[in-house]
Amino acid sequence: MDKSLISAFGRRVRLGMVGGGIGSIIGETHIIALRADGFCDLVAGALSSRPEVAHRSAAQELIDPERSYETYEAMAEQEAARPDRIDAVIIATPPQHHWPAAKLFLERGIDVICEKPMTRDLAEAQAMLQLVRSTGRLFCLTHCYTGYPMARQARAMIRAGALGAVRMIDMTFAPGDHGTSLEPEDPADRHWRFQAASMGATSILGEVNSHAYQMATYVTGLEAEQVSANLSMFAPRREVYDNAYLTMRYPGNVMGRMWASYVAAGNDQGFSFRIYGETGHISWNEEDPEYLILKPMAGPAVVYARGYEATAQAARTSLRYRAGFPEGYGLAFANLYVDFAQAIMARALGRPFAQYLSELPTVEDGVRGMKMIEAATLSHANGGAWTDCGTRL
Ligand SMILES: NC(=O)c1ccc[n+]([C@@H]2O[C@H](COP(=O)([O-])OP(=O)(O)OC[C@H]3O[C@@H](n4cnc5c(N)ncnc54)[C@H](O)[C@@H]3O)[C@@H](O)[C@H]2O)c1
Repeated sequence: MDKSLISAFGRRVRLGMVGGGIGSIIGETHIIALRADGFCDLVAGALSSRPEVAHRSAAQELIDPERSYETYEAMAEQEAARPDRIDAVIIATPPQHHWPAAKLFLERGIDVICEKPMTRDLAEAQAMLQLVRSTGRLFCLTHCYTGYPMARQARAMIRAGALGAVRMIDMTFAPGDHGTSLEPEDPADRHWRFQAASMGATSILGEVNSHAYQMATYVTGLEAEQVSANLSMFAPRREVYDNAYLTMRYPGNVMGRMWASYVAAGNDQGFSFRIYGETGHISWNEEDPEYLILKPMAGPAVVYARGYEATAQAARTSLRYRAGFPEGYGLAFANLYVDFAQAIMARALGRPFAQYLSELPTVEDGVRGMKMIEAATLSHANGGAWTDCGTRL
């Protein structure tokens, strides 16, 4: 990272956040990540759907009360009119609010950092893509796992041919017990993630599997052409699928599979991948993220570790500590903020900035993710039939 950009820019990047207030699951992670390296400040927010919680959350973060808003509509309008307006907004609400909120900020010339899944459906995702392109704003989708230096290492190695041609892409994202394995009797008491009314019965494909699919594309450069999906509901009273097995066909005869689950009992986060090529395979496990293992066909395993010169540039420039001092999830998430803030600063200084965006999950990733969700949903409805993912953006 290039911290000299901060002094050249003369201030930190001003961020506002929608959602993410006290009691939310992902908000605190964003706050830790955005502050980690000194590139960003949190200066505004509509931090909760409940005004009292929104203001209490803002006070806790020392946000000026004038910039603590009760709705994102008010925030977009009033921030856009300020001379010290926010440079970018973080959208950390449930997915059904992502597009309506992002639209308001993009239209007012404010860059967007958006939680996944990008939108409620493919139509909204395509509208997002068009608006990002027509406004020329910067956009980052927080598929945070690509911020791990060893995920970036895997990408660099696979793209440089370390496995020969890729043959099989094997992704698992299977947490064990998502809060509860027994849903409350009153449907209204269920978390939005487990209410079919919020994101449909196949919401696990956006909530969990979208990370795995984006990672598969990130490390291999391949986008699935077809999917066959089988989903099940295990937990009593559950109204959304809590387990998904997907088989994929990628271009060039490459095959893949993805397992997403909320009920892989005993697992913690359960995110890992193995990519097999002609000459060996690469494996990575998010619960031991500092290490990437290359196992060639005819030789012993080689373990790549964060913090060594022998790693790829994208891995070397995504860390703070030498090998042996673990960084972990929070700083992997922070790498997205570092990249995004550097792009904002460099762009404002009239310098080249595309290099800062090269590892970041994009609005195109969001569209690809929604195509996968829609195709897998259709496939499951048709008994697991092969279904086209519609690979053109
Ligand atoms: N990147 C990751 O690893 C990761 C992890 C968890 C969640 N997420 C994503 O983050 C998003 C939020 O998930 P969560 O688990 O934190 O949800 P949550 O229900 O815990 O929190 C959502 C927050 O949004 C607020 N909110 C809802 N509607 C709002 C509105 N109209 N205006 C302002 N605030 C509003 C709520 O009050 C709450 O503070 C989802 O899209 C989810 O998929 C991503």
